[in-house]
Amino acid sequence: MSNSVILITGACGFLGGLLARTLLSHSAAQATDVKLILADVVQPKNAQGQNTLAIQANLTDPAQADALFNTAFGVPDTVYCLHGIMSRGSEDNFDLGIKVNVDSVRSLLDAARHAGERTGTPIKFIFASSLAVYGGPLPDIVTPDTIATPQSAYGAAKLIDELFINEYTRRGLVDGRILRLPTIAVRPGPPAAASSAFISAIIREPLQGADTTCPIGDSPASPALDALALWLASPETTVRNFILARDVPASAFASHTRVVCLPGFTATVRDELNALERIAGPEAVARIRFEDDPVNRRIVGSWPARFDNAYALSLGFVADEGGMVPIVQRFKDQLEAASQA
Ligand SMILES: NC(=O)c1ccc[n+]([C@@H]2O[C@H](COP(=O)([O-])OP(=O)(O)OC[C@H]3O[C@@H](n4cnc5c(N)ncnc54)[C@H](O)[C@@H]3O)[C@@H](O)[C@H]2O)c1
Repeated sequence: MSNSVILITGACGFLGGLLARTLLSHSAAQATDVKLILADVVQPKNAQGQNTLAIQANLTDPAQADALFNTAFGVPDTVYCLHGIMSRGSEDNFDLGIKVNVDSVRSLLDAARHAGERTGTPIKFIFASSLAVYGGPLPDIVTPDTIATPQSAYGAAKLIDELFINEYTRRGLVDGRILRLPTIAVRPGPPAAASSAFISAIIREPLQGADTTCPIGDSPASPALDALALWLASPETTVRNFILARDVPASAFASHTRVVCLPGFTATVRDELNALERIAGPEAVARIRFEDDPVNRRIVGSWPARFDNAYALSLGFVADEGGMVPIVQRFKDQLEAASQA
């Protein structure tokens, strides 16, 4: 990671912010000179010192995407494309979802392509895709050969982006790395406009002494809680995999695609509740109201819950170990550390 310039779009978001903090702390620990360009439609406030540049940019405007490759830091060698409108947001506002999740990604890809042409080196374009590209009839275990047939506007947009990134890579215009993320839990902060938001909220809110609603099932005894299985990864493991993605040799990827399903693990909603009870007791679980939301349940239920991790692990990506319990424990520890800071 020595002497790099890295652009992160969506840098004010959950994963973009965590990635920026992690890259800066790695760079400080290893005494390397990493410069970050942090871009978001809202003014990034996470700029720290002379190695970060915070730029407010609406990436639906191609000129603003282009400008990110013409800053005082010079042309980035790596782009983390993490901006976007989340699943429920793009389902409820289709036009905005396509504009941000497809059109602006295409603009950013073109800006990266032209900047790479200027320097003579294709830019590494690391893209956060999602398991939402899958839907419809699926095998019990998704493998790299499973065909993606999304059943949501969000998943369709991610798949369109993937096709562009693969084609730009095949032509040598960028060096794409497409990461299909599991659902990330536990997500801190306020709930996102994602159909999966409850997956974090049912852990996060009770641990903070707040009430929350679970849109799956209509009571704590509902069989829907056992039936809905999820494919999950922790934020820390995901960001570690984002960083590892830069170093995978281009020759290690399958020759026909840069898509990698990042490693995850399977947990039902019931597994989450059990982990919460084990770490924080039944009073934490009692803070959850159960109000079934058929739209939410349909979207999340269309996502696959079991994948074959072998290809991702062979590329050097890593998986969480121990399921939900250590993740809930770590999140509780982080809350306690933050309250004492
Ligand atoms: N968190 C998850 O569980 C998960 C799972 C799979 C994939 N992903 C993908 O990972 C990426 C990051 O996810 P996240 O959870 O950090 O999302 P987030 O919603 O926290 O962050 C997205 C950021 O994009 C910014 N943005 C939106 N429109 C923009 C525009 N027009 N121009 C510039 N910036 C804009 C938002 O302001 C926000 O800060 C997204 O692409 C998401 O689809 C996330």
